[in-house]
Amino acid sequence: MKQLMEAKHLRLAVLASGRGSNFDAICEAIDKKVLDAEISVLISDNPNAPALQKAAARGIEALHINPREFAGRDDYEAVLVRELRARNADLVILAGYMRLVGKVFLSAFENRVLNIHPALLPSFQGLHAQQQALDYGVRISGCTVHIVDEGMDTGPIILQKEVPVYDTDNEETLSERILLEEHQIYQQALQLIAEGRVWIEGRRVFIQKQSGEA
Ligand code: GAR
Repeated sequence: MKQLMEAKHLRLAVLASGRGSNFDAICEAIDKKVLDAEISVLISDNPNAPALQKAAARGIEALHINPREFAGRDDYEAVLVRELRARNADLVILAGYMRLVGKVFLSAFENRVLNIHPALLPSFQGLHAQQQALDYGVRISGCTVHIVDEGMDTGPIILQKEVPVYDTDNEETLSERILLEEHQIYQQALQLIAEGRVWIEGRRVFIQKQSGEA
């Protein structure tokens, strides 16, 4: 079994394509000192991502890197890796980053890229997970924090939280209810890593108990 990371104050880098509410929630956890971390940069593939403005407003470096300016994914990711290494990122946090991450990126940050997904994986991978859950008719959905591998939402699971699905739900109401829990479990997973309590063996992730914890 391997420790994901020794206990340390984390230097995070965030990749986001959109709204940035998960990014905001992580910033708030840092401000409240419930998460022992700092964010060195937020990078977006989308020039209009509100997440870029949110980062800038917090005085966090906000970079737009346009994937279309590169010949292919490998070239784009090589530049991402260069920028992240230049900022000594310990962990890369995908927060509504709507691209598949490839070999170049993952080999540079093996077991160092995390994602949040709005469903209980392995159910409802990919886009519109909340609508997929409604269409399937599940009574319980939720969210998952996982380590990113080359598949789509397939990497080892760190934390999950269940959320009820009501008969009156639509995509918007279910998404809102799940989002509240996303904001909690992402920061919790990060704090567990900062405390050096996350261990991995194959696909399985183990959370070390604190002394005195049952
Ligand atoms: C979140 O619900 C996140 O789980 C989802 O995008 C939203 C981003 O919101 N991510 C995925 O679906 C990735 N497969 P945010 O920009 O407000 O954090």
